[in-house]
Amino acid sequence: MTVAMTQDTFHRLRAMIYTKSGLEFPESKKYLLESRLKQRLADTHCRTYEEYFNYLRFDPNRDKELIELFNCVTTNETYFFRDHTQIDCFRRLILPHAIKEREKNRKLRMWCAGCSSGEEPFTLAMVVAEEFPSLAGWNIEILATDISEHILALARRGVYGPYSVRNVPPTYLRKYFAASEGQYTVGPILRKMVKFSSVNLFDSVQMRAFRDIDVIFCRNVLIYFDQEAKRKIVTSFYDALLDSGVLVIGFSESLSGVNRLFLPLPWNKTVMYGKASSTVAAPYTTLASAGLASPSFQSVGRGDPRSEGVSIHSPMSSPIPTGVPVPSTISGSGIDGGGGKLKREPR
Ligand SMILES: C[S@@+](CC[C@H](N)C(=O)[O-])C[C@H]1O[C@@H](n2cnc3c(N)ncnc32)[C@H](O)[C@@H]1O
Repeated sequence: MTVAMTQDTFHRLRAMIYTKSGLEFPESKKYLLESRLKQRLADTHCRTYEEYFNYLRFDPNRDKELIELFNCVTTNETYFFRDHTQIDCFRRLILPHAIKEREKNRKLRMWCAGCSSGEEPFTLAMVVAEEFPSLAGWNIEILATDISEHILALARRGVYGPYSVRNVPPTYLRKYFAASEGQYTVGPILRKMVKFSSVNLFDSVQMRAFRDIDVIFCRNVLIYFDQEAKRKIVTSFYDALLDSGVLVIGFSESLSGVNRLFLPLPWNKTVMYGKASSTVAAPYTTLASAGLASPSFQSVGRGDPRSEGVSIHSPMSSPIPTGVPVPSTISGSGIDGGGGKLKREPR
């Protein structure tokens, strides 16, 4: 017999999910929560959603069940080379800049926060391995984290079907995967670079473990959070990043109105941010003088960017230097990729 989730129970469950993970289930998504938790009711022998809610609160197995809950309420859509513009930005701008910053200690730390089944971190690893042979001998770490244990188990397995790898260039496919019966298994070169672990982005204590990061990719994750939860997570990202670091989010996402810790660094349809701290000028000017980025803001004043004393946007001010190759796709029109309409991922 199918039981319905009462409005009251929906409110209790969604409050619990929000408190534990920051994930937001608006009123319109009641049906989704109901259908996603249906199997959990069966597996825990709960007859109603209310009983299941109490199971999550009081049962001796509640910690284990919380992991199952996270597995159910997350959306894990991903694939290799998902966003060509961002990958291009990574190879042409972000990595060269990070390499320059880190030449002395020859160490690079990247973080895919909300990595799902691993396609994103392995994509970054392929770009590093294939296009930056000069990094051989460097200490390269790609930290790949997710809240869903189920999806991390798939990531660690590293076996993908044709749908996942459809954008991988054939030469990369041959070099970095072992193909067998229509399945592609990630090889040792990429595995060596990527470290998977379970991390809840909403858990400030877990987030404190991340420091000295050069680049954070958190793409298509923040869309599932409300402004308050985003603020909390983005503040943790701020603390985790080096001053020269960059935060990349999805094309359909924005930190607009979230906080003033970060300044947008516009690059075509890539949405990325640098720290709005006293050192923000350095990485940004470097990019601009290399002819790679076009600043559309000026940082005024110094001091704590958590205060209100920093201006985020100002009109395009610095012309690209003449004589340097400039990608034809540079957009100076803002952080949303030329003012495009914000899109939501299907949940
Ligand atoms: C749509 S996938 C994005 C995958 C990849 N970043 C991409 O763009 O292809 C969103 C991922 O965020 C993870 N996620 C959601 N809430 C999270 C949280 N509180 N902490 C950590 N990961 C979370 C989900 O489990 C899911 O795998």
